[in-house]
Amino acid sequence: MNLMLFGAPGAGKGTQAKFLIEKYNIPQISTGDILRAAIVDKTAMGMEAKKFMDAGQLVPDSTIIGIIKDRLAESDCRNGFILDGFPRTLAQAEALNELMENMKIKLDKVISLNVPDELIVGRITGRRVCSKCGASFHVEFNPSKKENVCDYCEAELIIRKDDNEQTVKSRLEAYHTQTSPLINFYTKMNLFIELDGTKEVNEVTKDMIKALL
Ligand code: AP5
Ligand code: MG
Repeated sequence: MNLMLFGAPGAGKGTQAKFLIEKYNIPQISTGDILRAAIVDKTAMGMEAKKFMDAGQLVPDSTIIGIIKDRLAESDCRNGFILDGFPRTLAQAEALNELMENMKIKLDKVISLNVPDELIVGRITGRRVCSKCGASFHVEFNPSKKENVCDYCEAELIIRKDDNEQTVKSRLEAYHTQTSPLINFYTKMNLFIELDGTKEVNEVTKDMIKALL
């Protein structure tokens, strides 16, 4: 199964990806997580990307497309994958189509988690992420079992550097101007499925599993 999770920053892509990994035994490919790992490792690509991420802007297409090309070629993607936060521009979507055509594989579905902007700020400012595996929690809506400890790998939970009110505004603007045109792109390809992302986490998971039957 080759899936894509689509939606605004904070819509719940990362949260729902964790359930899909377990259910379908396929990897999550989050360009955000890959970029954050490159920042921790202080690679040249990470240092360059950091400037854009801290400002809430998109990282240039050429960098992102290079990351995805390398990642999809890895052996764990052979049985499928979950794209999370990629593509985010028309150029990235077109590059993905070309890449998948060359690999002779197809996207099965694009699942969009719809959440209005006014709910996004509260979600992002209350988010805590695992410093090791990147899992997302929320102090109020989706708390970890033990305070500040990841349910999955028991590492410490931290606040992402771009999770502040100012940066959220820029990220939402980038989403509406650069990413939302993909709704039309994937609707035309007959792949786009919209879910109500404002429901509780486990309700969204149920709807998503139903949509994938
Ligand atoms: P990225 O890491 O992808 O961030 P994002 O798109 O802004 O998305 P988020 O991770 O913030 O949200 P999410 O949908 O995963 O929500 P989550 O599940 O955590 O990208 C970061 C940056 O990297 C970008 O700004 C850009 O600079 C760069 N970048 C990455 N990919 C790129 C690309 N392709 N091209 C260019 N640049 C790129 O949930 C959010 C919170 O809500 C959590 O606290 C969670 O617990 C809570 N929550 C989840 N579901 C629910 C629910 N149903 N009800 C209540 N709360 C919920
Ligand atoms: Mg995420």
